[in-house]
Amino acid sequence: MCLGNICRSPMAEGILRNRIFLAGKKAIVDSAGTSDYHNGDKPDLRAIKTLSQKGIDISGLAARNFTVRDFDDFDFIYAMDFSNYMNIISKARNEEDKSKVAMIMDVVSPGNNRSVPDPFYGGIEGFEEVYEMLDEAAKKIAEKL
Ligand code: 4NP
Repeated sequence: MCLGNICRSPMAEGILRNRIFLAGKKAIVDSAGTSDYHNGDKPDLRAIKTLSQKGIDISGLAARNFTVRDFDDFDFIYAMDFSNYMNIISKARNEEDKSKVAMIMDVVSPGNNRSVPDPFYGGIEGFEEVYEMLDEAAKKIAEKL
């Protein structure tokens, strides 16, 4: 889960699918944005390029908005930053919904509330940094499944 669903969370979707595949496990992985600015858009070209260099293809993904139904459809909901986290929590209907939501970097460093920096307004190197962070988190998530 991120803001636009064109940079960080589609990258997280592709990276996590790859890590789950490499771990020999199965899970349904999807991503969404807390805003509808980019609904229907493909991931940012810089996100597509960064991941294609790692052998991961996210060019077919399309942005969508987070909905309350996602609480029913998924067991874990990972936010990229604190603003996304609060936005999702504010839509929770009950404690069970809330308990599904976590900051994604908390799987690497619990309790630190570390955000995945928004790379949208920066250069391509920001996307590489996002990749490194998310791959570390995805490895842990796949291990724990
Ligand atoms: P994302 O990045 O939340 O990682 O997809 C952004 C994409 C677009 C915008 C902001 C962040 N925007 O303001 O359009």
